[in-house]
Amino acid sequence: MKLAVFASGSGSNFEAIVGAVHAGDIAGTVQVLICDKGDAFALERAERLCIPAYVLEPRKYGSKVEYEEAVLQVLRSYEVELIILAGYMRLVGDTLLSAYENRIINIHPSLLPAFPGLDAIGQAFDAGVKITGVTVHYVDAGMDTGPIIAQEAVKVEDSDNKEAVQRKIQAVEHSLYPKTVQHVIEDLGRRINQ
Ligand code: GRF
Repeated sequence: MKLAVFASGSGSNFEAIVGAVHAGDIAGTVQVLICDKGDAFALERAERLCIPAYVLEPRKYGSKVEYEEAVLQVLRSYEVELIILAGYMRLVGDTLLSAYENRIINIHPSLLPAFPGLDAIGQAFDAGVKITGVTVHYVDAGMDTGPIIAQEAVKVEDSDNKEAVQRKIQAVEHSLYPKTVQHVIEDLGRRINQ
């Protein structure tokens, strides 16, 4: 299956997914990285991993529709079938949602529906929860609201500071996301063959 990853920042999940493809754990290829920020570290990873990367900055377009149409053109040129959001810090609009219905997934660093939105790890830490975790979900028009596909819990010990929680969450993300991408690919395959 032909995949695109969208990222705005570091891109460690992007790299984990490419690693899983190389290891044969994902039945697909990462065709392209889409970045909405020219200075995202994910771009350096893409270069090292030899994945084509495109920077499309929304402010350079007249509207969200025009921006997403430009993104769509890139996706179509690579025949992308599944979009993987990995630290893509913006809401997906109607243009992409209707072109890729049930084919856009996201990872969020909390056990949704708890702590949606920005700085979920900080929100959970400040709330003093003893268990937090990671959620992979289908994307809809809301903020971290689509149907949940997979979750994994992370224990917060009394001795953990926020950085320790973040490290634990990231380690879980890097194994849960590739595994879940493979499940979604298998599911899509079944849906297409029905
Ligand atoms: C991850 O924690 C992910 O859950 C959230 O943004 C972060 C992206 O990290 N959506 P990275 O850019 O993949 O390192």
